[in-house]
This record gives sequence, structure tokens and C-alpha cells, in this order.
Amino acid sequence: MAELAAAIDTDRLGDVLEQSLYAVAEAGEDITPHFFARFFARHPDQQAMFFQPSVSCGAMVNEILESLIALAAKEGWVDTSIHNLVIAHRCYGNFPLPLYAELLDLFVETLAELAGDRWSVEFETAWRQVTAELYRLIAHAH
Ligand code: HEM
Repeated sequence: MAELAAAIDTDRLGDVLEQSLYAVAEAGEDITPHFFARFFARHPDQQAMFFQPSVSCGAMVNEILESLIALAAKEGWVDTSIHNLVIAHRCYGNFPLPLYAELLDLFVETLAELAGDRWSVEFETAWRQVTAELYRLIAHAH
């Protein structure tokens, strides 16, 4: 487990996430293939669940990113949106809760990998804070 800083105040959280995304963007790489390479390396069986990967993989990464940033901004729509997504996912397969937790971990690991030396303990802490919050919403809807 990576090192974490003290919890980040909610009024700074969005700014810290934004700074970290600049650090990620400097890599000049699309997050999606890196994230799914990590996910499928750990769960090769999951690859067959994606019938339209060229559409759905990018949509999934966008939705995760947007939901996490919106949670930091305390936007009210995230709760309902995640509820709907978790229900929709029941049609895609049987995804146990620990798999959701792992997927969110891999998401943060992917951002850290892309940022490389530009990643910081504060960035790690900020993403862990919002992924923990997203996981709570997922668990509630699961
Ligand atoms: C255990 C974790 C998850 C697994 C295994 C999973 C798997 C899948 C699968 C199999 C599809 C359909 C792909 C296809 O037919 O090509 C899909 C679509 C999608 N997923 Fe996930 N997913 C997970 C978590 C999430 C989370 C946390 C979000 C967003 C916060 C998300 C957002 C989406 C979106 C936006 C789509 C595109 C279709 C739609 O709008 O329903 N997924 N996912």
C-alpha cells in the first residue's frame, strides 16, 4: 500500500485532484488502455465480458473519473448515477463487491503509474479519499 498523507480538507480536494491530473496528462497517454491492461492482467476472465470494448472501456474510465471529481465537488447527482450504474452492471455480469474495490485501486495505481515521478503522497491521499467515497456508494447500491 502506498504512503498516505493526513486527510485532505474537502475544500482543497478538487484542486489537488486537478493538479494530479496535470501530472498524469504530462505523460501524453490515454488512461484507458493502461487501466484495462492492468485490470485484465489481474482478471483475464473479465475480458470476455466486454462485448464492445472500443466503446465501453473509454466510457467506463470517463464515468469513473467524472464521478470521482464530482464527489470531490460534492455534486448531488453522483449518488443516483452510481446507483443506476451498479444496477445496469447486473446485466453485464456478476461482479462481486471486492472486484469493484479492486478496480478502484487499480484506477488510482494507473494514474500514479502514468504520472511517474510527478506523483505525490498528497495526490495518492486525495484519490484514495474519493475512491473510498465512491466505493461506499457502490456498496450501498450493490
Ligand atoms: C467490478 C467493477 C466493474 C466491472 C467488472 C465492470 C464491467 C463492465 C462491463 C462488462 C461493461 C459492458 C461492456 C461491454 O458490453 O462492452 C461495462 C460498461 C460500463 N461501465 Fe463498468 N464495470 C465495473 C465498474 C464500473 C464503475 C465503477 C463505473 C463508473 C463509475 C462503470 C461505468 C461503466 C460505463 C459508463 C459503461 C458503459 C455502458 C453503460 O453506460 O452502462 N463501471 N462495465
